[in-house]
Amino acid sequence: MDLQHTMGQRSILFVMISLLYGAAATSKIQAHFNETAILPCQFTNPQNISPSELVIFLQDQEKSVLYELYLGKRIFKNVASKYKDRHLSFDKESWTLYLHDVEIKDQATYQCFVYHKSSNRHILINQMSSELSVFANFSQPEIIPDSNSSDTSYVNLTCSSTQGYPPPKEMYFLVKNSTDNSTSKYSATMHPFQDNVTELYRVSISLYYTRPDNTMSASILCVLCPTDALPVQPGLQKTCLHSKPYLIVSKKKEPRLSQNDYIIWVATAAVLLLLIVGLVGFLIQWKKKKKKKPDHSQTIKMEKKENAKFKQREEDHTMKKSDEETQSDVNSLKTPSSEDKSVTHF
Ligand SMILES: *[C@@H]1O[C@H](CO)[C@@H](O)[C@H](O)[C@H]1NC(C)=O
Ligand SMILES: *[C@@H]1O[C@H](CO)[C@@H](O)[C@H](O)[C@H]1NC(C)=O
Ligand SMILES: *[C@@H]1O[C@H](CO)[C@@H](O)[C@H](O)[C@H]1NC(C)=O
Ligand SMILES: *[C@@H]1O[C@H](CO)[C@@H](O)[C@H](O)[C@H]1NC(C)=O
Ligand SMILES: *[C@@H]1O[C@H](CO)[C@@H](O)[C@H](O)[C@H]1NC(C)=O
Ligand SMILES: *[C@@H]1O[C@H](CO)[C@@H](O)[C@H](O)[C@H]1NC(C)=O
Ligand SMILES: *[C@@H]1O[C@H](CO)[C@@H](O)[C@H](O)[C@H]1NC(C)=O
Repeated sequence: MDLQHTMGQRSILFVMISLLYGAAATSKIQAHFNETAILPCQFTNPQNISPSELVIFLQDQEKSVLYELYLGKRIFKNVASKYKDRHLSFDKESWTLYLHDVEIKDQATYQCFVYHKSSNRHILINQMSSELSVFANFSQPEIIPDSNSSDTSYVNLTCSSTQGYPPPKEMYFLVKNSTDNSTSKYSATMHPFQDNVTELYRVSISLYYTRPDNTMSASILCVLCPTDALPVQPGLQKTCLHSKPYLIVSKKKEPRLSQNDYIIWVATAAVLLLLIVGLVGFLIQWKKKKKKKPDHSQTIKMEKKENAKFKQREEDHTMKKSDEETQSDVNSLKTPSSEDKSVTHF
């Protein structure tokens, strides 16, 4: 028990010492993606040594050299190949290295060494560590509907934001009810995609939103909150980002139809349709008739004529008949006359 206790005390002491040492030797540096990281050597040159007697170089934690100033001249002999194409500049006044166009993979601990070269000896006169963190602001989140479906009873929304680092703490939707101004939070599983080359993140969430009521209008926002791990530093996104609102507009005061109302509506519509079809059919027929009417009247006239003729004929006929009758009368008259003989026979 006692042994463990003293061991614990020792390890606490050890941690405290290393913290003190670390605080003195390391500075935390932040840089924004694609901007410039400032890596200071914090060398004041109190003895005012001539730069022609100094060897200054910076290396990363893998001991790959970024930059070397050898007796006042920049040399490339020891520079690691991965840093050969990088845009670097060194300010000899402030003993500071500027690493331009910072990438996510530049996150590392860098050490600056300053040696005094006198005769054949190199004496370390300054050492400085910088721990670089790189950040990238996420773009303003954007809500995009899955499809322009004509069915407005639901909508599948996807909200995405790009070019950020590190991944955000959370993303969610806020649905504001326009009727009573109440706001509901819809959390969703965040899907991060990391770019192969830039190592930046694109994040998205989806919301399958069903409207409880067709008359309801709502305003939907997408919110992205950055990770808590961000240091207090100007130029970093510390507050949550909001998308532009996505509006769900109500279908203006369309009364909700019950099943019965629906049937009545359909029946009325069907009857109306039938009436219209009937009317149109009648009109067409009527038009056709109207077109044929002159023919008809002609036929009627013709008929009339025919009738007249017929009547004439009939009259003629009757006339003939009467003639005949008279003739027959004559005949009959004749007959007697012809039968005069008979008469004579009488
Ligand atoms: C980096 O910044 C430059 C301008 O300073 C810009 O043209 C380029 O698109 C940026 N690259 C990325 C990946 O943001
Ligand atoms: C939906 O319509 C808008 C404009 O009306 C258009 O910009 C957008 O691309 C459409 N989205 C889909 C998924 O068709
Ligand atoms: C909504 O859209 C997302 C992204 O396109 C998709 O992954 C998801 O399956 C969709 N959900 C539904 C219910 O359609
Ligand atoms: C919006 O508010 C109205 C009135 O309080 C309520 O009837 C309706 O259900 C609410 N809609 C949603 C989606 O919460
Ligand atoms: C909702 O908010 C708007 C403006 O923010 C306000 O004009 C309106 O009166 C509010 N409605 C209710 C029901 O609180
Ligand atoms: C990553 O990049 C390499 C080439 O740089 C490519 O072959 C590979 O398909 C990429 N992977 C993904 C997941 O995009
Ligand atoms: C990142 O976001 C912060 C806070 O919104 C802003 O002050 C800063 O200018 C942004 N930086 C870049 C490079 O966009």
